Amino acid sequence: SGTKLWGGRFVGDTDPIMEKFNASITYDRRLWAADVRGSQAYAKALQTAGLVTGDEMKRLLGGLDTVYEEWSSGHFQIKAGDEDVHTANERRLKELIGEVAGKLHTGRSRNDQVVTDMRLWLRDAINTLKGNSLQLISTMVDRAAAEIDILFPGYTHMQRAQPIRWSHWILSHAVALRRDVEKLDETLRRVNVLPLGSGAIAGNPLAIDRELLRKELDFDTISINSMDATGQRDFVVEFLFWASMCLTHLSKMAEDLILYSTKEFSFIQLSDAYSTGSSLMPQKKNADSLELIRSKAGRVFGRCAGFLMILKGLPSTYNKDLQEDKEAMFDTYDTVDAVLQVATGVVSTLQVNRIAMEAALSPDMLATDLAYYLVRKGVWSSFLSMNHGQCSLMLYSRSHIDIPCVQDILKPEGCLTHQYTRYRSGRFLFISIMCYQENMSLSLALSPISFIYVCQMPF
Ligand code: ARG
Repeated sequence: SGTKLWGGRFVGDTDPIMEKFNASITYDRRLWAADVRGSQAYAKALQTAGLVTGDEMKRLLGGLDTVYEEWSSGHFQIKAGDEDVHTANERRLKELIGEVAGKLHTGRSRNDQVVTDMRLWLRDAINTLKGNSLQLISTMVDRAAAEIDILFPGYTHMQRAQPIRWSHWILSHAVALRRDVEKLDETLRRVNVLPLGSGAIAGNPLAIDRELLRKELDFDTISINSMDATGQRDFVVEFLFWASMCLTHLSKMAEDLILYSTKEFSFIQLSDAYSTGSSLMPQKKNADSLELIRSKAGRVFGRCAGFLMILKGLPSTYNKDLQEDKEAMFDTYDTVDAVLQVATGVVSTLQVNRIAMEAALSPDMLATDLAYYLVRKGVWSSFLSMNHGQCSLMLYSRSHIDIPCVQDILKPEGCLTHQYTRYRSGRFLFISIMCYQENMSLSLALSPISFIYVCQMPF
C-alpha cells in the first residue's frame, strides 16, 4: 500500500482479490484523454494560484503531453497497482518528470477528477450520437421523399386500419428520433457543467480559479455545490434514460420491419448485408440486424434501471458505488452508437415491394375516408359499422343535398342479403344500408378507383 496514491497510513498489502475487485482501470482507461486534458487545465490553474512555478507548470504540461502520446500511440503501459486511469496517469507522470508530478494533485481529489473526466468524455460521446442520429434521420427523410407515392396499409391493433403512404410510416419514426435529438441537446446542457475545483467534498481552499478551468475545458457553466458536484450522477442517469427512450423508438421500428419482411407480409426485403441465413433451413433469410436492434433496447434499459438501483439509498457525496457508473455509461454509448449505424444501413438498403404493399390495400379500408368525404359534403353525421360480415351505414344530411349515387358506391358485392333504405324528412336525409356477407372480411364493394370517381362527382 505504501506506493499507492492513498497508501500513506496503510500497512501491509491489499488482498489481491480485493485489489482486482476495487480496480476500475480495465474499463475507465477509456477516460485517458479526458483525464490528461483535465490535468493540464488543472496544472495551469495551479500556476495561476501560485502553487506551482511557471517552470513546474511547463514540466507538468510536457509530461502530460508524453502521457497523452503514449496512450494515443498504444504504448502506454498499465502496471500492477494502477487502480484506475487517474492513478495510472499520475504514476506515469512521476516516472517521466519526477517528484514534481505529485504537485498536480494539490487540492484535487479523484472525486472531482473522475466526474470531470466523465463529463468531458460524455460530451464528446453525445456529439457523436447526435451526428449518428441526424444521419439516420436524413436517410429516412431521403427515402420518404424518393418513395412518397407508395401506399400500403396502416395498422392499429395490428389490424388493417387506413391506407397510408410508406413515407408516412418512415417519417413517423424519423419524428420520434428528432425528438430524441432534442432531448439529447437538453441533456448536453446539464452534462456540460464543470465540477473540477470541488475537491473531495468540501471544495478547494487553494484559490483555484474555476472560471479559468471552465474556459480551458470549454464547459458552459460551473457547478455551485461541491457536495452535490462530487456525489451526483444525474447526468449519467439522464443519458441512460435518453438511450432507453431512443432505443425503444428504434425497437418499435425494428419490430414493424421484422413483420413487414416476413413472407406473409412481403412488404420489404432486407439487404443481404444486414441479414443472416440459417444453417439448417436454406430458404431462410433472418432479420438479425433488426432483432438485435430490438433486443438492445432491453439491454440499455437494464443499464438504466441497474444504475438507478445503485444510486437509490446512497448517502450524500462520493461513495465507491459510484465507480459503477462507468460501465453503464460506456456500454450504453457503445450499444447506441452501433444501433444507430446499423439502423441507418438497414433503412438505406432495404428493398420495398410496392406491388405487395398496394395489393394489401382493400376497399374496406376506405370506409373512414368515405365517411369524411360525406361529412365534407354536408352529411351531418354518419355511422358505419362492420361486424361479422354485417355492414350498416347510416347517413344524416343536414341540408337538402341528396346523395344520389350512394347506392351505387355502396353496392355490396357478393352479399347474401342487402337492404337499402332511404328516407327524406325535411332537411334530413337518412340512408341506411345493411348487408350481410358470409366472408367476414369485406362488406363494402368500394374500390379505390370508384371512390375517387365518386369524390369527383358534384353532389
Ligand atoms: N475510480 C474511482 C471511480 O471511478 C475514482 C474515484 C475514487 N475516489 C475515491 N475516493 N476512492 O469512482
